[in-house]
Amino acid sequence: MASNAVRVSLFSSSVWRVCGAVISLLSLSLLAGCKPAETPETTASPTAGATASATTEPGGGGATQDTTGDTIKIGHYASLTGETSTFGNETDNGIKLAIKELNAKGGVLNKKFELNTEDDQSKPDEAKTVAVKFAADSKVVAVIGEVASTRSLNAAPVFQKAGIPMVSPSSTNPNVTKVGDYIFRVCFIDPFQGAVMAQFAANELKSKKVAIMRSQKSDYSIGLATVFTDEFKKAGGEIVADVSYNETDSDFRSQLSQIKGKTPDAIYIPGYYGEVGTIARQAREQGITVPLMGGDGWDSPDLVKGAGGPGKALEGCYFSNHYSKDASTPRVQDFVKTYKADYGDVAPSGLAALGYDAMMIVADAIKRANSTERAKVKEALAQTKDFSGVTGNITIDENRNASKSAVVLQIKGNEFTYKTTVKPTK
Ligand code: PHE
Repeated sequence: MASNAVRVSLFSSSVWRVCGAVISLLSLSLLAGCKPAETPETTASPTAGATASATTEPGGGGATQDTTGDTIKIGHYASLTGETSTFGNETDNGIKLAIKELNAKGGVLNKKFELNTEDDQSKPDEAKTVAVKFAADSKVVAVIGEVASTRSLNAAPVFQKAGIPMVSPSSTNPNVTKVGDYIFRVCFIDPFQGAVMAQFAANELKSKKVAIMRSQKSDYSIGLATVFTDEFKKAGGEIVADVSYNETDSDFRSQLSQIKGKTPDAIYIPGYYGEVGTIARQAREQGITVPLMGGDGWDSPDLVKGAGGPGKALEGCYFSNHYSKDASTPRVQDFVKTYKADYGDVAPSGLAALGYDAMMIVADAIKRANSTERAKVKEALAQTKDFSGVTGNITIDENRNASKSAVVLQIKGNEFTYKTTVKPTK
């Protein structure tokens, strides 16, 4: 296994510096064609995150908790419908699988889990509305959600105020957990994810000139575009165009022709799968043939469909993600098998895997707290250490984030195939 271990030290973009975040990608090496192994092959540095402490004190705006029930009620707010419906549904599937396994073993504290999922229709305002509903429910012990950072950011203050622990499975924007000490996540954050792709562009694709297309109302997209810009420049590259779009747009031709005029070597599109498919198609129609790159927001069975089908506009393109179903570890392979058995031979996405891990971590915290009291569950969540998840080992740090490896996946036909792993250093 050859590794080209380029050593690069990076510091964060202005946005993350404001947040007190400092990252450095120590080395990134590629193992093209290799399967993910137990030990990831490459390293990148701490996703240091914010040092800012909780901003909102809990203890208001919600119903007083009633712990007398004979089940443990977990809330999940998710995009079951709307623009990013695959995100919500796949996450829900992962949570349900975890609950099935937990309940088969008798649940926790002699109580079984009960899941209550509410649809936020992929809308930030609706995420808040649903959060208010959960906050008024005296039986809810903890809440899982959301996937999309902007929706998590809209709902988190409600849970913080009500004193209900919230665990985001996959929101990667650093600001999400800064809302307060009741807000956690089980995934890495964007200063890391953005650096991974900037390094990939510079070192593996040997790109010198990259164009960026960002979704202008998405905290996630703006954050990734910013960190990518800083990291790619530090790697010696140039950002030749940086254009914005609205998630609900369907015509991206004018932005694309602007980009085309700048003749980039690659285009970074840190958006969600819906618009990315359309952007890719319209890019190819305009004769733009360079590789397109993205982040975890590309992870959907509908991505390739939207790009015109397998072998079409997104063939050979790359994105960063949380996990690869191809990992050879027994932990991942068992999960893939049980998931497929329940969901009709469909391999679990990163979203399903993170939903599963989020639920398992909530259950583990309740067990360690030996209580369903929200404040005690929150304390136990904060102490999560070395929890063996499907998406890697999870330790919740002092900023309530998890420092984990990222993978780079390549689109081949309908498959997202494993390309490389990038590990954060301690
Ligand atoms: N990380 C994305 C966000 O913060 C959401 C996402 C996670 C999408 C995982 C797909 C897969 O908005």
